[in-house]
Amino acid sequence: MAATELYIGLMSGTSVDSVDVALVRCREQGCELLETLEHPIGPELRRRIAAISLPGDDEIERMGRLDRDIGTLFAGAVQALLAITDHRAEDIAAIGSHGQTIRHRPPSGDNTTPFTLQIGDPNTIAEMTGITTIADFRRRDIAAGGEGAPLAPGFHAAAFAGEGRNRAIVNIGGIANITLLSGTLLVSGFDTGPGNTLLDHWIRRHQAQGYDRDGQWAAEGRVCTALLEQLHDHPYLARRGPRSTGKEAFNLDWLDLSLRSLPALEPRDVQATLAEFTAETIAIAVRAAEVNIDEVFVCGGGARNTDLMRRLYRLLAPRRLDTTTALGIDPEWVEAAAFAWLAWRTMAGLAGNAAAVTGAAGARVLGGIYPAGEVRPVPVR
Ligand SMILES: Nc1ncnc2c1ncn2[C@@H]1O[C@H](COP(=O)(O)OP(=O)(O)OP(=O)(O)O)[C@@H](O)[C@H]1O
Ligand SMILES: [Mg+2]
Repeated sequence: MAATELYIGLMSGTSVDSVDVALVRCREQGCELLETLEHPIGPELRRRIAAISLPGDDEIERMGRLDRDIGTLFAGAVQALLAITDHRAEDIAAIGSHGQTIRHRPPSGDNTTPFTLQIGDPNTIAEMTGITTIADFRRRDIAAGGEGAPLAPGFHAAAFAGEGRNRAIVNIGGIANITLLSGTLLVSGFDTGPGNTLLDHWIRRHQAQGYDRDGQWAAEGRVCTALLEQLHDHPYLARRGPRSTGKEAFNLDWLDLSLRSLPALEPRDVQATLAEFTAETIAIAVRAAEVNIDEVFVCGGGARNTDLMRRLYRLLAPRRLDTTTALGIDPEWVEAAAFAWLAWRTMAGLAGNAAAVTGAAGARVLGGIYPAGEVRPVPVR
């Protein structure tokens, strides 16, 4: 095991809002979040990520360049974090880089050859930062027959489980995922469906805003029951067992199909309906849990959406609803901390996936290790 206990988690999720960077002390007894930084993603890079996330021409060239450029962005994010601490590269055992997901085709989606693809070249990160980098966490789980997702539940269990408590941890990122905990036992975990993605895209189309701040626009609208019922017909929501999804399944093209069969709706009523749909898919997952969940803790950007939280509160009553702040980690940093934890697991030779969650054949050490620094050269006669 590495002598130092400091790990850096790098997370850029499906929302492509920013790179979240977390410096975490990881050891057997638990994790401690020491420093955080939100590193911006420029509009040009964001546009290229959005473009490569859909099938199109010239993909290999575009992906190859983007892979390097995102690697450079991630390395810059790590350097910016170190600059606000007293630490230098040598102090850090490893970086855990989630990478930018550009395609997710898991086995639960009836894909004949399941695959998942996260880019942001780890060679570039290791070279530029001088820190050992671990990346590509999901593909080993897919190779072992799993969904490759979600991977955060193991960390949620390690950081948030409570003796004698049945807890749900809900991460509302672009897509939302849930972790169900009975005491210290990790019962299950899966993607519940959309998190912020539909809300973000709908307001972007109609109000030219990146997201619905505090859910104010959704709060002004009225839920359309006919639309809500149609949205619930999405085939993903009927699935059971290990499951994961992405923007491939929940996007505006799919929403537009439902809207076409209904009388014209006010855009803000659609936003309210999308918020209710998002909250309901989460609440259904909590209610259907194998154990009676009495406490729900929310993390991810959606925890800041007051309207969404209000809807969850109503749908989940009388259960306790709170954010992960109540358990010691600010909602914004949970996923980045999870990838620092996953890097620690890999360096320690420990499994990162929970087979009960992903459906993999078994526990696996995840990710590829890209060692830092110069080493003894190849012998030349
Ligand atoms: N004040 C706020 N009000 C409403 N929504 C917010 C607010 N702050 C953040 N958000 C939402 O959170 C989103 C970002 O969340 P987050 O970073 O957790 O998602 P992500 O990067 O997609 O991560 P993941 O990998 O978990 O999907 C934004 O796109 C926005 O929709
Ligand atoms: Mg984000």
